[in-house]
Amino acid sequence: MTIRAFIFDLDGVITDTAEYHYRGWKRLADEEGLPFTREDNEQLRGVSRRESLMLILKGRVYPEDKIQEMMERKNSYYLDFIKEISPRDLLPGAKELLEEIRVAGLKTALGSASKNAGGVIDRLGIQSLFDAVSDGHSVERQKPAPDLFLHAAAQLGLPPPECVVVEDAAAGIEAARAGGFRSIGLGPRERVGSADVVLPSLAGVRLSDLLEALGGANRS
Ligand code: BG6
Ligand code: MG
Repeated sequence: MTIRAFIFDLDGVITDTAEYHYRGWKRLADEEGLPFTREDNEQLRGVSRRESLMLILKGRVYPEDKIQEMMERKNSYYLDFIKEISPRDLLPGAKELLEEIRVAGLKTALGSASKNAGGVIDRLGIQSLFDAVSDGHSVERQKPAPDLFLHAAAQLGLPPPECVVVEDAAAGIEAARAGGFRSIGLGPRERVGSADVVLPSLAGVRLSDLLEALGGANRS
């Protein structure tokens, strides 16, 4: 039961870009006259750009060029929102935990479905805290498929049972479980209740708390 690495989702775990994804989709939905609420947005957490649009369209059929245009428009709104991101936008506890994990000799990876993840971690100033980065460009099948986390584990050279996924999305916990990873869910139980450990956020969370909650001390 040795834990050798943590794979972090980005949006809603390390920084609150989940809010900017929502605002980008909300603006697009309003422009298109499509009903879309914060509650609807919960289903979009962790889900790829295209799949998010499909959830907003709720079965409405559009030609491919219009779908592409809408995805690009949402992304341009998102890029505008994230222009100003800086280290101040790190969520409480995230950087401290990443640093603590590395000092303890464990590995860290990013496992984000976002094609913008690289740019966001650059602006947050934390790229050097990851041994591997897997993002929206890394695999075809996105969460809830396990492929992205398997890609991250392969980059680290570790088997899934030795890696812990940290996620805020139901789709992300499902992906972690499907891949044979242990998981920490951040947020309400209704969303991440199937994770091995559920916490409200990473604020004040120490590595030793996580290792204990995941089932005993590390004996590496
Ligand atoms: C995930 C977000 O990390 O990335 C989703 O939780 C988003 O909301 C997805 O749709 C894809 O992001 P992007 O930046 O490639 O559109
Ligand atoms: Mg997320």
